[in-house]
Amino acid sequence: MRQFTTAIDTGSARFAENLAAYEADLAILRERIQFAIDGGRGRERSIARHLDRGKVMVRERIDMVIDAESPFLELSSLAGFGQVDDAFPGAGIVTGIGLVHGVPWMFIANDATVKGGSLFPAGIKKHVRAQDIAAENGLGCIYLVDSGGAFLPMQDEVFPDKDHFGGTFYRQARMSAQGLPQLSVVLGGCTAGGAYVPALSDEVIMVEGIGRIFLGGPPIVKAALGEIVEPDDLGGAELHTRESGVSDYRVSTEAEAYGLLRTICETTNLTRADQSAGWLDSVAPEPPALDPAEIGGIINADTRIPFDAHEIIARLVDGSRFTEFKPEYGASIICTFARVWGHLVGVIANDGIIFSEAALKATHFIELCEQRSIPLLFLQNTSGYMVGRDSEVAGIAKHGAKMVAAVANARVPKFTVLIGGSYGAGNYGMCGRGFGPRFLFAWPNSRIATMAADTAETVLTDIRLGGMKGAETTEDELAAIRAEIRGQYEEQSDPYYATSRLWDDGLIEPTATRDVLGLCLALAARGPAPDQGDKIVYRM
Ligand code: COA
Repeated sequence: MRQFTTAIDTGSARFAENLAAYEADLAILRERIQFAIDGGRGRERSIARHLDRGKVMVRERIDMVIDAESPFLELSSLAGFGQVDDAFPGAGIVTGIGLVHGVPWMFIANDATVKGGSLFPAGIKKHVRAQDIAAENGLGCIYLVDSGGAFLPMQDEVFPDKDHFGGTFYRQARMSAQGLPQLSVVLGGCTAGGAYVPALSDEVIMVEGIGRIFLGGPPIVKAALGEIVEPDDLGGAELHTRESGVSDYRVSTEAEAYGLLRTICETTNLTRADQSAGWLDSVAPEPPALDPAEIGGIINADTRIPFDAHEIIARLVDGSRFTEFKPEYGASIICTFARVWGHLVGVIANDGIIFSEAALKATHFIELCEQRSIPLLFLQNTSGYMVGRDSEVAGIAKHGAKMVAAVANARVPKFTVLIGGSYGAGNYGMCGRGFGPRFLFAWPNSRIATMAADTAETVLTDIRLGGMKGAETTEDELAAIRAEIRGQYEEQSDPYYATSRLWDDGLIEPTATRDVLGLCLALAARGPAPDQGDKIVYRM
């Protein structure tokens, strides 16, 4: 593969201006992630109480389980951001992937310093998403349970539907049956919904003095039966390990629990992260020749100005080397083979509008990757498919649909990163959430919506005026309509709005992208080969 020659002038005024805007974006991201870790109204008091009880903070718990040299890929750290008066920083749950004895595990850990670890809608969505990632990537699940179950004031949004609480238990039982171990450590008062997580686990450890499991806590028992009973007598570690058998092991401290958990993990017969199943061509990794830190000067501070995606690819892939497919055709999409952390991957990237030729080229390239069992990486920066009479006459609707159908039917592992705009059907053709990428991450400069705020302002104002059937509108009224529409679109296309609602698996810093993708590809490579069967490559 040939090394890319950059055209970026790192000494230019534009580069400096972009870098300054990028650094301001990163400062906001880091501040908001810190808020998820320890921010929020009354959180100091909850944290102090948690520590006074001798309990360990949720992220430290995970650190105590994973290998000393293991990375931890935290998912959706900003779930819940800005919702319900920010009462649920991080949505009250930490999920992510870390190694135990070299084997990747999915961690699902309640944060008891956020509303007693109870789950509101974004929390349950985060829990479900972590389980779905585990199932798709063949990961066992470790539950660090410290949860009051459903957040009762919003029970209608977390309890009854398919992907609500019941769906988490369904997934637990199904994964267990599929040979993906489900292990729990009970670290707090686990009531009702919280109780079924350990009860449905393959093996359970309880920590004395803090871990409790009961279907109904002491207040419910008192109300229902008139019985007055102490928490440990109702569902403590000793009762459940020696009498009920709900728990398998009893330990005195959290440190002891995590040591025992690591020992149990050694008995699960799972494949290590560095063992490849052999279907994906993987060689020794090589860092990019061009510095990933320069990405900050390449992304335009003005989101309406495109930037050359070649320059981004070159800073993400091994040796900054890649082999572009059909480079002289359909230039609004780049299709190229490259390696990330040694793994062969087909990259599809764009920087603006998708024209018919580009859609056809991408369809052809997806078929090639499918035929060769090469994972696909989509780098989204698109305002959508081309509109206008010429484009319609050229058949943009059917050409775009070919690309969308090819993405939907590709059985190779797919990964998506929003590096800029994700607008309209461009979101679909470039493997948005609805198209089953194994992971979807976004950069803090990204935007996601049916259309950009500028366009929406014009389109929706026209629709609104049309609906008013010729009624007189003053300049002020018109300005107010425009401002309202723009405001709505700006708010809803903001990456924090998106990540809060789990439309992605997290906002990541652009310089971390290569390592994140390396881990995702390693997970795919240790799993089974993509479905076999005839794979036809149609020339488009
Ligand atoms: N729904 C709504 N809020 C809940 C909750 C739940 N299921 N569980 C805990 N909370 C809230 C508390 O109201 C409190 O909120 P505040 O900080 O705004 O005052 C906060 O979480 C901490 O709860 P608290 O009881 O003070 O903490 P604790 O550590 O002493 O006890 C629990 C934690 C989880 C054992 C206890 O809160 C509990 O038993 N909760 C009810 C569990 C339940 O009945 N669940 C049924 C689910 S179907």
